[in-house]
Amino acid sequence: MAVLSIRAVILVYSEPRVILFCAIFLANIPRQTAFIPVFSPTDVLSLTRGKCVVAMSRKFLEQKTRVGMDDADYRLLLNSADVAFTGEHGVAIGVGDFEHFVWPSGKRLETGEVHTEPTAVVFPRIKEDRTCLLTKTSEVGEPASIVYTGTVSVPEFVDFINHHCNTYRREDGSLTIEGLHRDALLEDFFKVEHLPHSVPISKMFEHGNHGGQNCLQDGSEVCHAGHSVHEGIEKFSDVPTCERVSLPSINRHTFFSEYLVRSKPVIITGAMDDWPAMSKWTTEYLREMYGNKSVHIKLTPKGEYEGIETASIWDSYQTFIIPQAVLKQLPYPDLVVVRPATLNIRFSEFLDIIKNVSAGKLTDVSAYLEYTSVSDYFTELEMDIAEMPFFKNTLQLKHLNIWLSDGNTLGKTHFDPFDNFLCQISGEKEVILFEPHSNERLYEAHIPEALLAYNASMRQFRRKTLLDSTSMVMSPLDIQRPNLERFPKFAEARPLLCTIEEGEVLFMPAFWWHEVQSRPSQTQHRNLAVNFWYDPFFIKEFPCPDCHLDVNPKYRHLL
Ligand SMILES: *[C@@H]1O[C@H](CO)[C@@H](O)[C@H](O)[C@H]1NC(C)=O
Ligand SMILES: *[C@@H]1O[C@H](CO)[C@@H](O)[C@H](O)[C@H]1NC(C)=O
Ligand SMILES: *[C@@H]1O[C@H](CO)[C@@H](O)[C@H](O)[C@H]1NC(C)=O
Repeated sequence: MAVLSIRAVILVYSEPRVILFCAIFLANIPRQTAFIPVFSPTDVLSLTRGKCVVAMSRKFLEQKTRVGMDDADYRLLLNSADVAFTGEHGVAIGVGDFEHFVWPSGKRLETGEVHTEPTAVVFPRIKEDRTCLLTKTSEVGEPASIVYTGTVSVPEFVDFINHHCNTYRREDGSLTIEGLHRDALLEDFFKVEHLPHSVPISKMFEHGNHGGQNCLQDGSEVCHAGHSVHEGIEKFSDVPTCERVSLPSINRHTFFSEYLVRSKPVIITGAMDDWPAMSKWTTEYLREMYGNKSVHIKLTPKGEYEGIETASIWDSYQTFIIPQAVLKQLPYPDLVVVRPATLNIRFSEFLDIIKNVSAGKLTDVSAYLEYTSVSDYFTELEMDIAEMPFFKNTLQLKHLNIWLSDGNTLGKTHFDPFDNFLCQISGEKEVILFEPHSNERLYEAHIPEALLAYNASMRQFRRKTLLDSTSMVMSPLDIQRPNLERFPKFAEARPLLCTIEEGEVLFMPAFWWHEVQSRPSQTQHRNLAVNFWYDPFFIKEFPCPDCHLDVNPKYRHLL
């Protein structure tokens, strides 16, 4: 085997994870008053931690006469907005003194291109920063400020507020058609429990077979080495499966209304039939085209990627210190997400590794080319695949990735903040899904990370480094050996099984939890897939087990 050397790595796409050492904001929201309040910069600062703030200029309200209009117009504008947004708890309407508006930090109000004093300004809500666990209050920033440049027209002003506060109100305070549509969608998500034979986890692990509960607690090596990635998933063979539809029967409209806006997974068949990739992308072809290309690969001992382990079995456990302020916010400080070892090697060398692994010549190592950008690394390949014809120009494409391995990999349970089309080229993938509602069941949380080290010449892995970062998308529980004493709410979760074969596409809506068991193609001894990640139709704050999906403000126009 060639000597593999570890070099500095550049992540192509890094799933959401954070550095612990950053700031968090504390909300201090004054109570709503019955009259229209005057907002000082300090008020705006604290209000925007929870609300979208709309402030009308005091000067304009007080002005007696102006060419072609009088003060009543401005007062009407203000009062109308107040009426329109009465029922909207997330919007605070008031008056601002923009002539003397200086933030406590000393900065002046940012008015962008507008050089005169603004008539009104929207300060959008500052989302709680869920990525930072260490308080550094000195770094609290000001909200954005969006200046109203429209005319003195009530519908225009209400529209402006709707747009920037992400609300859906009409002048009389009722909901717009789009607002009604949104509310209807949020009530009508697809749920696994709607399916016949849907079964909760409690029924599947009924006989006290909680498998791994002792594994994780004593964290012994024996326990970790004792299971292979190929067992376990059989437990899920009797759960409901994904709906399958064939391409000819699906069009833009049906896909949108039956799957996308219901956040419903579905397998699409026949959508890759005319892809050149299906016959062209043999391993030999890929080697010929990209053999000398340097790629960034992941390595694990047994093909399990991003599993959970006890932190105490890691080398640096005794010396690694998490600050108290951070520790307090970690619900599972005794656990870590195991990040695979990484390596930058030539693509041909990677192909040799997976070939040798498949042939049984190389054991106790698994290599994976994961979410690697097609356009950055394998540019020409983009011509051999295509976006789903019924989905083009619907949502914004963010990433197009290729996935290649020897075929025996298990990606542990996590979610991605993207709507996903996963397209299988060689081999199959069994995907176990859990819906993104009631995420207490999957214990959504910040979980500290640890990084495996691989010594290529010795062909040895080490549980080496605990990292000062957390994962925000992994579940702390092992769905195949759940510790239901520690994670009792998982008992209520209901799995959905979606297995894709060569030529099949899985539409997986954003935030659905998934565990992916790959299997090799019998003829090509590999697993090869591409996936299209879109800015999702529904978004959700995370990690936040009780936050719910909402329509992405970016796609208001699609309602
Ligand atoms: C693969 O196996 C061949 C033959 O056993 C060997 O010559 C080669 O070095 C191996 N390559 C890797 C990357 O393991
Ligand atoms: C890779 O590079 C080597 C020299 O560095 C060259 O001999 C070989 O032909 C190249 N292979 C491919 C497939 O481009
Ligand atoms: C791999 O292990 C050997 C033997 O312990 C050691 O000499 C070598 O420096 C290690 N290599 C790396 C890259 O750590």
